[in-house]
Amino acid sequence: MSLRPRTLSLMTWRSKFPEEPSWSLGGTAASEKRPPWRSPSENIFLHIVDLSLPKSVWKFVENFKQEHTLNVLINNAGCMVNKRELTEDGLEKNFATNTLGVYVLTTALIPVLEKEHDPRVITVSSGGMLVQKLNTDDPQSERTAFDGTMVYAQNKRQQVVLTERWARAHPAIHFSCMHPGWVDTPGVRLSMPGFHARLGARLRSEAQGADTVLWLALAPAATAQPSGCFFQDRKPAPTHLPLARTSSSPAEEEKLIEILEELARRFK
Ligand SMILES: NC(=O)c1ccc[n+]([C@@H]2O[C@H](COP(=O)([O-])OP(=O)(O)OC[C@H]3O[C@@H](n4cnc5c(N)ncnc54)[C@H](OP(=O)(O)O)[C@@H]3O)[C@@H](O)[C@H]2O)c1
Repeated sequence: MSLRPRTLSLMTWRSKFPEEPSWSLGGTAASEKRPPWRSPSENIFLHIVDLSLPKSVWKFVENFKQEHTLNVLINNAGCMVNKRELTEDGLEKNFATNTLGVYVLTTALIPVLEKEHDPRVITVSSGGMLVQKLNTDDPQSERTAFDGTMVYAQNKRQQVVLTERWARAHPAIHFSCMHPGWVDTPGVRLSMPGFHARLGARLRSEAQGADTVLWLALAPAATAQPSGCFFQDRKPAPTHLPLARTSSSPAEEEKLIEILEELARRFK
């Protein structure tokens, strides 16, 4: 894959760097910094924004679009919080981060992406979503017994449904979602210690997990595939297991959008 020089914007929610670098640019987002590590390019920016706080995400995009263009959005940030925790807005944390945050960020950036040539959105979902049918009855687990793994899997199913809907609604952008494989990351180590120990050396490296994400972001072959698909190992993969009865109706999907739009508006 050949790469044209581009600006790379990285987003996270906690600065891993305790000291404020003297060359901090300030301004954009909650904050924007030049990375303090040795970088091969001057065109790398670190934006710090908490995806679980929709107001911060809206504000981030407002500032971001004043100064930046965007060719590719990779929705990678995500969490599996195993106890029911609320954000300062009173939203269940997994849903706020994995579904609402991704929805607000993507929706707000669509007009920015649409201005560019070959724009793409890749959402890092999970094969775990295969065990869940879209469920819009209790999206923030207010009335159901809380199971962090299943809540996470439901959020990842919601990302798949959103990707399909965005693809239909915005044909100028190539949308995809994907499963990176089971990867040895801090998230898996902390949130699924038993799974991490069981899989051990069979877990993928972070570079292996990132392979399909980068291919979807950069390769011409990726956009030869229809928009809205779910990928694994550079190939489209089914979004439902045989006989699993996990397909949702257009009405159920519409309900998800209504819920997200209402929350997105409330916290704008
Ligand atoms: N690892 C796997 O086996 C696997 C399998 C399937 C899918 N996935 C998906 O792959 C993606 C990456 O997962 P991972 O395993 O690398 O997890 P991870 O090690 O926990 O990394 C998660 C990343 O998300 C960021 N993040 C979490 N909450 C955030 C928030 N509220 N606002 C902004 N950023 C936030 C974290 O930022 P900080 O660094 O600042 O904490 C971190 O960079 C996730 O979407 C996950 O669901 C992973």
